[in-house]
Amino acid sequence: MAMPLQTIALAGSTGTIGATTAHALASAGYRVLRLGRADFDEEGRLEERLRKEGVTAVISCMASRSGTVADAWRVDYAAQAMLLRAALGAGVSQFVLLSAICVQRPRLAFQMAKLAFERELQAAPLCWTIVRPTAFFKSLSGQISRVRRGKSFLVFGDGRLTACKPISNEDLAEYLVTCLDNSQRARRILPIGGPGPALHPMDQVAILERLLHRPIRVRRVPPGLLAVIASTLGLLGRVIPTLARKAEYARIGHYYATESMLVWDVDRQLYDESATPSWGTHQLEDHYRDILNHHEEEGKRR
Ligand SMILES: NC(=O)c1ccc[n+]([C@@H]2O[C@H](COP(=O)([O-])OP(=O)(O)OC[C@H]3O[C@@H](n4cnc5c(N)ncnc54)[C@H](OP(=O)(O)O)[C@@H]3O)[C@@H](O)[C@H]2O)c1
Repeated sequence: MAMPLQTIALAGSTGTIGATTAHALASAGYRVLRLGRADFDEEGRLEERLRKEGVTAVISCMASRSGTVADAWRVDYAAQAMLLRAALGAGVSQFVLLSAICVQRPRLAFQMAKLAFERELQAAPLCWTIVRPTAFFKSLSGQISRVRRGKSFLVFGDGRLTACKPISNEDLAEYLVTCLDNSQRARRILPIGGPGPALHPMDQVAILERLLHRPIRVRRVPPGLLAVIASTLGLLGRVIPTLARKAEYARIGHYYATESMLVWDVDRQLYDESATPSWGTHQLEDHYRDILNHHEEEGKRR
């Protein structure tokens, strides 16, 4: 007799990683219950829905979209905590959380909110896994279109202040889904990067130069500039609330301009590429090539 399909509730299924995870779950033979914003209106109804649908595990790729302090606590902490309580009430036995590697050195509101929820999840009486990925391909692709138009590539400092092991949506989604039936990943916090060596922003420049067959101008921005902007806006934000929001964005910008997305070695006080596990097969260079080809096709159609 065929085994009944296991039903997995997926929060954040409309997001970048969530959407790919929904496909990966279906391809791996799971039934997917997509949870949308309306499911978070009332905890009792959410619990009832999980119970009625026979959900055995939850994967949460949910995250604040705005990056504001209030939204971070509302989504990265409170909505996640509601989902966990509802899951426990409905007898769900497993919870896989997509978090972020940057929470290992928290300075930003969204990192504090994520950590607060990570702590609740670790104390919960179910089988949990916390996945902390490095940078997504999309986070390293924002400058392709300006560079293609002949503009310069912006880097902070000398372009080698930070590094990461970029991971594709597909590789990360597969990693999340394979947490469901891998007992070695139970009750663990797992940093994860993509395949290949760690890349600096200047390595992204080199990739684009190879693909475009021309040198690219690089504009260097002192990272201290963002720190000054953040503290100035922070002060003004005490009287003008919209500036407080911008101050948090500048703090986020400064964080990523100066901190690597690799495992932090507390004893040696440095980011350690070799301690950052690699997973998957997709390379950033292939992703850049796809984007450039897509731009070219679009250009021809116009
Ligand atoms: N970008 C990176 O390089 C990077 C690196 C490491 C880790 N991460 C982490 O990975 C996670 C996922 O990132 P992503 O880019 O896939 O996120 P994303 O595209 O912004 O998607 C966020 C998802 O959360 C949902 N959501 C937002 N607020 C909600 C609410 N109040 N109630 C219910 N659902 C809500 C969104 O639904 P709607 O469609 O309704 O808005 C969407 O499905 C984040 O925690 C991020 O910090 C990112």
